[in-house]
Amino acid sequence: MSKVSLASPIWLIIEIVFVIYFSSMNEWLDDLETKGWTELKNFLSIEISRGLLEEMAQLQSRVDFQQASIGKDDNKQVNLTQRGDFIYWIDPKNCLPYASEYLKNLEQIISGLNRHFYLGIRDYECHYAHYPVGSFYKRHTDRHAKGSARRVSSVFYLNPNWKESEGGELVIYEASGKSSLIKPEMGTLALFLSELEHEVLPTLRERKSITGWMLTETIL
Ligand code: OGA
Ligand code: MN
Repeated sequence: MSKVSLASPIWLIIEIVFVIYFSSMNEWLDDLETKGWTELKNFLSIEISRGLLEEMAQLQSRVDFQQASIGKDDNKQVNLTQRGDFIYWIDPKNCLPYASEYLKNLEQIISGLNRHFYLGIRDYECHYAHYPVGSFYKRHTDRHAKGSARRVSSVFYLNPNWKESEGGELVIYEASGKSSLIKPEMGTLALFLSELEHEVLPTLRERKSITGWMLTETIL
């Protein structure tokens, strides 16, 4: 009986296929490492994305979203020249079913980040965000000047069929000086280092998302 030796071409092909498969799985981690940001298109199924959008609409009909502010503690203030979105924080212990599904998926991302970069992320905070027509968020970072536990920012977009002419892109300014645009299309998850400068361009259509931050235990 003839055996297939480990050095045979068949094994070589199997190895190559595995290497390509696993490296494409980790592409987003490589992107984060080299550019400081990444974009995962169709991160969740259409059903979950639609469910999240539906839940957000239900919430908006029941509760008032708050006008988002900038700064921290004593410096916290609403400033419409900087930021015009309305937000509502998600309580992981008491949230709607699709929101809970979303959080489970984010946990997978967090464990990938911790395994790959040893970031020591212990917690995640997130809110729904609603940008009315004409609103924007000027260039800023998510790590406050006095130090912050925020290490990686995430934005999951809930806008079906977003067109280029509708604006509202996220601009990320890489440390290299290059800037890149992310379209707020339904199902896309943007991930970026919270220290990177970024901005939301004026939106010509209502723009919805779940924005969150992966936190280290201690403030760095
Ligand atoms: C933020 C933010 C980006 C986006 O809320 O801090 O930068 O694309 N959001 O909504
Ligand atoms: Mn931000």
